[in-house]
Amino acid sequence: MIIIGSDHGGFELRKELAEHLRAKGFLVTEAGSENGESVDYPDVAQEVCAKVISGEAEKAVLICGTGIGISIAANKIDGIRAALCTDCYMAKYTRLHNNANVLCLGGRVIGAGLACEIADTFFATDFEGGRHQRRIDKISALEK
Ligand code: RB5
Repeated sequence: MIIIGSDHGGFELRKELAEHLRAKGFLVTEAGSENGESVDYPDVAQEVCAKVISGEAEKAVLICGTGIGISIAANKIDGIRAALCTDCYMAKYTRLHNNANVLCLGGRVIGAGLACEIADTFFATDFEGGRHQRRIDKISALEK
């Protein structure tokens, strides 16, 4: 299961991305702003990341207006590697090298077409391991 959470700034993009991913066969759960009403992005990050950490969700997408606030919040949570991506190269390499488990997007920054391609790349790319695992272990050590 993939969980997609957003505040009001990411609401429209969340709806389009959820529809896109469901059409591709992903089981998608949504969280955050229910109808576009204002909510606080740290609350959405906390709720969504808890499901990634527990294993209930395999990966997550978090969307706010810029993608910045929600990625800052998500990266405060132990075990979360949240990557704000604005193109497919970033999505590819944050999976290959950072083993990112949360993709962050800016709903007021990029269009739905690009966002869907970024998400497709993110979910299709596996972690490369090797020397990159050593570096991720060092990131984990920073959480202690
Ligand atoms: C909400 O207005 C906006 O601040 C939020 O969506 C996000 O862009 C914060 O980083």
